Amino acid sequence: MIYMIIFLQGLLSAAVASWSVSYDPKGMCVFEGSSVDFSCLFDYPDYLKLTVTKWFRPGKNQKQDGSQQGITVHHSNIALISWPYKGRTAYANQNKNCSLRLRNVSKRDIGRYFFRIETNDYYEKFTGSGGIQLKVAVLPLRVIVKTQKASEQIDEGDSVTLTCSAENCTPTEESFLWFKNHLLLPQATGNELRISSVSHSDAGNYSCGLKNTNTTLSAQTLLDVRYQPKDVEISVSSSEEIQEGNPLTLTCKSKANPAVTHYSWFKITDANMSSVGSGSELTIRSASLQDAGLYFCTATNHIGTQKSTVKALKVASDRHFLLSASAVFLFVMAMLLVLFVLFVRKKLFTSQKQTAEQMPAVTEVIYENLRKTESETNTSTVIYADLKLPPSNSDRPCCNSQECDSVIYSLIITTTE
Ligand SMILES: *[C@@H]1O[C@H](CO)[C@@H](O)[C@H](O)[C@H]1NC(C)=O
Ligand SMILES: *[C@@H]1O[C@H](CO)[C@@H](O)[C@H](O)[C@H]1NC(C)=O
Ligand SMILES: *[C@@H]1O[C@H](CO)[C@@H](O)[C@H](O)[C@H]1NC(C)=O
Ligand SMILES: *[C@@H]1O[C@H](CO)[C@@H](O)[C@H](O)[C@H]1NC(C)=O
Ligand SMILES: *[C@@H]1O[C@H](CO)[C@@H](O)[C@H](O)[C@H]1NC(C)=O
Repeated sequence: MIYMIIFLQGLLSAAVASWSVSYDPKGMCVFEGSSVDFSCLFDYPDYLKLTVTKWFRPGKNQKQDGSQQGITVHHSNIALISWPYKGRTAYANQNKNCSLRLRNVSKRDIGRYFFRIETNDYYEKFTGSGGIQLKVAVLPLRVIVKTQKASEQIDEGDSVTLTCSAENCTPTEESFLWFKNHLLLPQATGNELRISSVSHSDAGNYSCGLKNTNTTLSAQTLLDVRYQPKDVEISVSSSEEIQEGNPLTLTCKSKANPAVTHYSWFKITDANMSSVGSGSELTIRSASLQDAGLYFCTATNHIGTQKSTVKALKVASDRHFLLSASAVFLFVMAMLLVLFVLFVRKKLFTSQKQTAEQMPAVTEVIYENLRKTESETNTSTVIYADLKLPPSNSDRPCCNSQECDSVIYSLIITTTE
């Protein structure tokens, strides 16, 4: 009796185990217009003879568990194939291979597909449970931006995933193309583009497409990355050295997203920092020596605050100006003096010439002649004669010429010898 039960159980399990249909994969997504391969293997008890192989799809209003066969997708009797699938299917028709190709897939093909076998024994038939879920991806493609955060806003450092998606589903095994601001990103080939820590430089307009068809390019989607102010810089209206008394404007500039809402100005003097203003510009109407020092600004937006590098401001005092002014004055005066001297010298020279011509200095000429005489006659002792010049009103020729004088003294020297 026990042997009998064991035998029956063995027979039963063998018989049950031999009925099988396996679908792999159990879900598929293909683009509209393309073909899909339902991969399928089946088994049945060897003692039975196959009479019908069939792929079907439950109708819209039917149970989707395979208990109701609405639309015949494939049938071993071609005449029984429902009209939407006529001429669009190719059955593997190999032993225990139930794979089916469906061509030119459309949105109407969306649904669950089952494989069924019937045998010569009316009671021995089998439908593979579960079926294959077919989804049809409908173009156009779209770029969808996602982060882990609940909020939609993306901040620098966030992990961001850009997904290239079609309507209903996206066939992930396809080769994708990614573009940032219309430029191809060669490394990105999947339908997802992951940026683990997004930076402001990743911001831009992204689009995607399918590699094989160039008519599938998506519209652009903006990846907007928010960040606190950066590259905060001070620029000065005039040159590096500002003259005392001149106006002066310091401008604080920064990159930020969203835009900077507040600027503040600070000054450092003798290790003492003080707030000196707000707004993107700091205007000094008339620079004074006290305005010289180290300046920096801070830029603030909704994300945070960043300070600029320190800018040294030099104010040149008026003394410099006075010094240079007096230098110029002195130079001009010197030039005038030189000119004056030159002028005077020229004037003197010409007048000397004129006097020399008109009335030579009498006495000079006299002494010259005397010395000359002395050196020539060493032995002679000079005797100064009591010279009496004749009165001017006398008959003698007036000594108003050099020749006249020399004549007189020559006479004297001769007398002493
Ligand atoms: C089943 O048939 C399909 C289509 O002919 C083929 O591509 C596939 O390799 C077959 N599978 C097996 C396991 O033989
Ligand atoms: C594909 O199916 C669509 C309807 O869904 C039809 O208009 C088109 O002509 C078919 N294309 C081919 C190549 O059969
Ligand atoms: C993205 O595209 C929009 C609209 O076409 C444009 O206004 C914007 O400037 C673009 N942004 C970048 C970063 O290219
Ligand atoms: C895009 O497709 C058209 C028509 O099929 C073809 O002429 C063209 O060369 C393609 N361009 C690229 C970049 O593949
Ligand atoms: C620092 O500057 C502030 C404001 O200008 C001033 O009140 C304070 O006395 C200064 N402290 C020192 C140590 O100079």
